[in-house]
Amino acid sequence: MPEKPKLLITRRLRDAVQARAARDYQVVLNDDDRVFTRTELIEKCQHVDAVLPCHSEHFSADVIAEMPKRLKIIANHSVGVDHVDLGAAKKAGIVVTNTPDVLSDATAEIAMLCMLGAARRGAEGDAMVRAGKWDFWSPAFMVGRQVSGKRFGVLGMGRVGQVAAERARGFGMEIHYHNRKPLPDHLAKGAIFHDSIEDLFAQSDVLSLHCPSTPETKGIINSKTIAMLPDRAILVNTARGNLVDEDALVAALESGKLFAAGLDVFCSEPGGNPRISALDNVFLLPHIGSATEETRDAMGFRALDNLDAYFQGKEPGDRVA
Ligand code: DGY
Repeated sequence: MPEKPKLLITRRLRDAVQARAARDYQVVLNDDDRVFTRTELIEKCQHVDAVLPCHSEHFSADVIAEMPKRLKIIANHSVGVDHVDLGAAKKAGIVVTNTPDVLSDATAEIAMLCMLGAARRGAEGDAMVRAGKWDFWSPAFMVGRQVSGKRFGVLGMGRVGQVAAERARGFGMEIHYHNRKPLPDHLAKGAIFHDSIEDLFAQSDVLSLHCPSTPETKGIINSKTIAMLPDRAILVNTARGNLVDEDALVAALESGKLFAAGLDVFCSEPGGNPRISALDNVFLLPHIGSATEETRDAMGFRALDNLDAYFQGKEPGDRVA
């Protein structure tokens, strides 16, 4: 029997995923779940045929330049691949895959949580009750904004954007979106296409970001584009932190241009941005969009499906480079 390929799994995955991986590969695990330094990552990759990383491991061009000839595939446990320099991987002959589809429901749920938490002042209310500081009630107390019947703007109507739109329809929201191209009717389901971000932003009472982080989208939310939103709009970001210029966001939240923001992702992770955390009108989560039992299993299995295909000489279903 040929030797099983050697696979580095960089972070602690679900038991069922690690068990399947151990059945089919010689696995190198990281049961302490400590994030490798750049040097450790390079060192660990020297002795394996494949690596199954998360978005916490950065395969920049200079890291990829240090990869051994033996390393054939980076099978990501994420849909986002901005932590991998795809051009450099391609040049080095390393296949790269991701895990689309399986996290759309979970991430769309978190987008709704962020939207409602921001609109209805969820963090403020929770903190007040927990701290034993809830000593007053009146009809004027903790008044938020209602989302029902308002306009839900989707920037990036891909898989996650479409599910978020579907959930927002459940609140009677009117769906607007911007994409490179309009979706076919059966996917758009009546959502209104805008061919520019200016048009989309002008129509978005809630703007929800669902585009990947690329050189073109980095900082797409900035003082100029925030000014295009209706006054007192709500920003939701469950995609990638660096889509947002956080200084501009803080200014807009402080001035009241934005009513609130619901954020699951930040420019600096883990940790977030202390200037954002200091504000009352934000609802914040620690990058847990896909963190459900079901979705973590599905992401792990999908990454293993891609590895299996590669090592069986087939084209992996989710190849991105
Ligand atoms: C993704 O899949 O891109 C999520 O952000 C988790 O990494």
